[in-house]
Amino acid sequence: MSKGEDTFKKIIAHCKEYGFIFQSSEIYDGLSAVYDYGQQGVELKNNIKDYWWKSMVQHHEEIVGLDSAIFMHPTVWKASGHVDAFNDPLIDNKDSKKRYRADVLIEDHIAKLEDKINKEVKKAAKRFGESFDEAMFRETNPRVQANVKKIDDINARFVPAMEDGQLSDLKKLIEDLEIACPVSGSRNWTDVRQFNLMFSSQMGSTGETASTIYLRPETAQGIFVNYLNVQKTGRKKLPFGIAQIGKAFRNEIVARQFIFRMREFEQMEMQYFVRPGQEADWFEYWKEQRMQWHLALGIPEELFRVHKHEKLAHYANAAVDIEFDFPFGFKEIEGVHSRTDFDLGAHQKFSGKKLQYFDPETNDSYVPYVVETSIGLDRMFLAVISHAYREEKLEDGSERVVMNIPPALAPTKVAVLPLVKKDGLPEKGREIFDRLKYDFMCQYEDKDAIGRRYRRHDAIGTPYCITIDHETLENDTVTIRERDSMKQERIPAERIAEVVRQRVVVRSK
Ligand code: GAP
Repeated sequence: MSKGEDTFKKIIAHCKEYGFIFQSSEIYDGLSAVYDYGQQGVELKNNIKDYWWKSMVQHHEEIVGLDSAIFMHPTVWKASGHVDAFNDPLIDNKDSKKRYRADVLIEDHIAKLEDKINKEVKKAAKRFGESFDEAMFRETNPRVQANVKKIDDINARFVPAMEDGQLSDLKKLIEDLEIACPVSGSRNWTDVRQFNLMFSSQMGSTGETASTIYLRPETAQGIFVNYLNVQKTGRKKLPFGIAQIGKAFRNEIVARQFIFRMREFEQMEMQYFVRPGQEADWFEYWKEQRMQWHLALGIPEELFRVHKHEKLAHYANAAVDIEFDFPFGFKEIEGVHSRTDFDLGAHQKFSGKKLQYFDPETNDSYVPYVVETSIGLDRMFLAVISHAYREEKLEDGSERVVMNIPPALAPTKVAVLPLVKKDGLPEKGREIFDRLKYDFMCQYEDKDAIGRRYRRHDAIGTPYCITIDHETLENDTVTIRERDSMKQERIPAERIAEVVRQRVVVRSK
């Protein structure tokens, strides 16, 4: 097992042990790729939502919120292209009976070649030290060049095969690359078939009156069909945005990697409506803004990278993924897409209703262009906890697991801990807890030795522990212990809120 896999397993176990995430319907052996958030998880999730909502809606006066229904008129999904084109190409291995996404098998193969290139570059950087010219090395090293050529050759076949839905070409590529099933090791593949990812059900009584209804695969369409309602009632001028947080559903073929790829998940999406011709500038603006949003949490920059799409979705004229270095490697956490007027134009056509904006500056009516930012809430959650999870060896030889969650996102901000459960300390602790609970999510705990209580709060990422001791009764001071440094300081009880507030607020974009 690789180090990453090992860490990932520990993170999953930790999430269960401390009430962050449970398998859905666990007592019935679970439901694949569906998860429930426990008492710590729901707080962390709410804090991520709050951070996103504040930075998008509260800090941008031209962006407003929306909460549209999950069920939408079935024609919405015809217009958006999801009924016809929201497919994944699937392939089965006849020996292991395992099902894969054909495109993912090929992408994984490309990722391995990229890894080889990066290893080569790293080795050379070490060898040459400060005089190392990376660009020159990449251009001239024969081994790097050979792998670059392999990747280019694969893409030259892969991209058109995906764009044109040429399933037999995908199968041929898998065969030519000699890709084997990771489980059986064999290359005994079925043909590639298309598989629509939308969940459907029937609305209304069965029989003639019932119609097919879909669980939305993205929240964006609720924004598109409401854009004129919001624009008119909110008297919005371009550019303006609409933000929404909500559930989305996809019948994923490959449901692996914990909450990375779920069948029911949450998205935080924002559509920014702009004048046609200005979308490229806004696309750059939002790419930059979204990266700053991630970095403002204090997560190191090297854990993010931007990946430009070679193969564009049916609605986009430019797109990037913001990728995060998860324990299983760099993978998409957020997409920024320039969606042109594809969606509004299609809804105009299918609904027969005009969806044009009257621009008072140009005296002209037109369908706006859209730049979208779309982040998976659950993937953001996974990024935060993957980065946060630490196993530390302490000076006294003991060990601790600490969740280095950015304080602004931590489920509990303050734990109030009387040193012993007697001598009036619990009463004093309760008094302090009752004052703080209106400002912060707090926990009061008086069971177990103080050291064990500190460890428990380290494990759920509580940034501050307040200890009430006998001195507190004499002079109304407490000790405040900071999670990461474990340093303790004595401060007047009346200053607790001020000290905590300094660190638990993100001053972000
Ligand atoms: N409206 C555009 C859209 O939905 P997407 O790239 O398909 O674009 C956006 O999805 C984000 O939603 C992704 O970057 C990812 O974070 C999240 N996401 C997509 N599918 C997911 C899944 N099965 N499980 C968890 N998150 C998912």
